[in-house]
Formats: sequence, C-alpha cells, structure tokens
Amino acid sequence: MDFDVTTFPLRDGRLCTIRPARPEDAEDMIRYMAETAGETPFLLRTPGEVHYTVEQERELLGSLLADPCSAMAAAFVDGKLAGNSCIRCLGPKRKTRHRCAFAIALYREYWGLGIGTALIERLTGLARQIGYEQIDLEVVADNERALALYRKCGFTETGRRVRALKFDDGSYHDELLMVRFLGES
Ligand SMILES: CC(C)(COP(=O)(O)OP(=O)(O)OC[C@H]1O[C@@H](n2cnc3c(N)ncnc32)[C@H](O)[C@@H]1OP(=O)(O)O)[C@@H](O)C(=O)NCCC(=O)NCCS
Repeated sequence: MDFDVTTFPLRDGRLCTIRPARPEDAEDMIRYMAETAGETPFLLRTPGEVHYTVEQERELLGSLLADPCSAMAAAFVDGKLAGNSCIRCLGPKRKTRHRCAFAIALYREYWGLGIGTALIERLTGLARQIGYEQIDLEVVADNERALALYRKCGFTETGRRVRALKFDDGSYHDELLMVRFLGES
C-alpha cells in the first residue's frame, strides 16, 4: 500500500524519513539485503542467498505498493537507505486474514537511534488501518536487541520453536514467537 511520508528526529539530531519502498529503490534494496545479512547472524538469509535481479525486485516492490494488505516502509537518513520493515498478509484464507507477519532490519551503523521503534509504530498504525487485529513475528531467542525492541513496543511471547535455525558453525538456535494485539495500546 501507499502511505504518507513521515519525518522524525533521531537521537543524534539527524532527521529520518519513513516512506513506502518503491520500484525505483530496487538496486538499493538488493544491496541492503545482502549487506545487512552479513552484519548480523539473526536474519534468515545469508549474503550468498540474495538472488533477486533488479527487475524481479522492482516487480516485487511494485506489487507490495499496489497490495492493500501489505506495507513496506523504508527509512532514510541523509538520503541514504538506513533500513526497511514490512507487514504482509499471510495469504488469502479467511481464517488467517485477521493477522499479518512482520519483518525488520537496519544497517548496523543505524542501530540504537530509534529507527526500529519508529518503523514499528508506523507499521502498527498502517496494520490497524488495513484492519488487522494482530501482528505476528518470529525472532531468534538470543537476539537481545530485537527482543528488547519488540517487548518495548508491546509484543508478548507466545511460544518457542526449538532448534529452528542451524548456523554454519553447527550451533542450533530457538525462535520465539511473538504477537502484538492491535485492539490494545
Ligand atoms: C533489531 C533492530 C531492528 C533494532 O532497531 P533499532 O533502531 O536499533 O532499535 P531502537 O533504537 O528503536 O531501540 C529499541 C530498543 O532496543 C533496546 N536496546 C538498545 N540497545 C540495546 C542493546 N545493546 N542490547 C539490548 N537491547 C538494546 C532498548 O530497549 C531500545 O529501546 P530504548 O532506546 O527506548 O531504550 C536492529 O538492531 C537491527 O536491524 N538488527 C539486525 C536485524 C534484526 O535482528 N532484525 C530483527 C529480526 S527478528
């Protein structure tokens, strides 16, 4: 879906702009997916698993922009892409259309400035506007920064997927399932 641009001050005084990701962001987005995947072990994708062509990415961003049940919000600082976050419907089935899935990642240099909080609040407003009743997400259990962000933003833990991920070093990692109910604060 399309939505209004918003701007807010970061903790370091710079301004951050949040706007819908658009087809013309395709190249930046592909670079962002590969680079952020290399900056943290907590994203599902590894840098080598980003296979989109610019054309495919352009098409995906266009279809998300046209989809009234999804929103992809990109954050920019000094005109540069700092991160991205989205809500997406879980499919066309009537029994799951009250909930949406959530994902977020920022370049490491923009962590700790309040962008994660702002993206979640922006997307929560859009999720309510669409008519979702809850936002669901999964987070690696040892991703303390993300967990702190989600708890602060009103998400609560509902379950644990044991050994959901296996890293290249052979270690297993659980995922926590979290939900934010939108009827509440
Ligand atoms: C997780 C992520 C989105 C957080 O975004 P952010 O912009 O850094 O978050 P904010 O600055 O809004 O801070 C949110 C909260 O994190 C917590 N936090 C900050 N630094 C922390 C740290 N070093 N350790 C643990 N928690 C910390 C604080 O509670 C903070 O809230 P507060 O500043 O109001 O006290 C970002 O770190 C990121 O992109 N990480 C890599 C990708 C990822 O893990 N995505 C989530 C996958 S489920």
